[in-house]
Amino acid sequence: MDLSPYQYDKLSELLERHAGIRLGAGKEYLVVSRLGGLISHLGLEGFDGLLRRLQGGGDRLLLTHVIDAMTTNETFWFRDPAHYQILTRDVLPALDSRQARIWSAAASTGQEAYSIAMSIRGAVSARQLPMDFSFDILGTDISEKALQQAESGRYCGLAATRGLDHEQRERFFSAEGDCIEVQPVFRRNVSFRNFNLLATYAALGRFDVIFCRNVLIYFSQERKRDIIERFHGALRPGGCLFLGSTESMSSHEDLFEMRRHGAGLAFYRR
Ligand SMILES: C[S@@+](CC[C@H](N)C(=O)[O-])C[C@H]1O[C@@H](n2cnc3c(N)ncnc32)[C@H](O)[C@@H]1O
Repeated sequence: MDLSPYQYDKLSELLERHAGIRLGAGKEYLVVSRLGGLISHLGLEGFDGLLRRLQGGGDRLLLTHVIDAMTTNETFWFRDPAHYQILTRDVLPALDSRQARIWSAAASTGQEAYSIAMSIRGAVSARQLPMDFSFDILGTDISEKALQQAESGRYCGLAATRGLDHEQRERFFSAEGDCIEVQPVFRRNVSFRNFNLLATYAALGRFDVIFCRNVLIYFSQERKRDIIERFHGALRPGGCLFLGSTESMSSHEDLFEMRRHGAGLAFYRR
């Protein structure tokens, strides 16, 4: 399917405006491979037909499908394990209360939110956290497809193994063929909802901890700054933000204090 430079620019603009995602140069192959199927499925006249339908933001459902197709949902269990250790060993024990609200702010297919729940329950069993420690985890993402998988708590193929060792598979999941399902006890405190990071955060309430890993890399510096400022507002005093291990926050020292804990970094709200 052909994609002209004009069509590519229009689609890039649309994605940046509605999802914050910047395609940058040279990603034509990605657009064609990810949207070609959708265009054929809907019987549209190529990318011109798609752009016409999206013009003026009239077709919200189609826009949702386009964003869904263009997001990179890569994730896996206990990604950057140091963060889960810092959470249960340093951050949660230092809270004033025995309860925590945690936001997995680009939750994708849910592995991050469930890994947090599994780590906290593990820390309670190991007496690192008090027996009456309570928590809830909100996982949000812009991709409806990813959220459906997150809500199912069921994973097959590579998603059922990536990041997990044998002991974790036995302890946290029930298995069936090459699929696994998160045990109910680790799902109890986890909920998911569709949420765009470009929207206002007031309705979500405030959090003790925010995980926002491996998504801000797709955003412009201005958007990233804006989102980090709003995370600051969404965190309770002393709350903590985790970014992806390759993501830096050098220009936000006025808002967050960076602390190194062993192999990982955490950013504490000033
Ligand atoms: C690479 S995944 C990261 C998943 C997980 N945080 C991790 O580190 O393994 C990035 C996720 O960000 C989501 N995303 C992209 N733009 C978004 C936006 N504007 N609002 C909310 N989520 C967004 C994508 O749908 C995708 O699931």
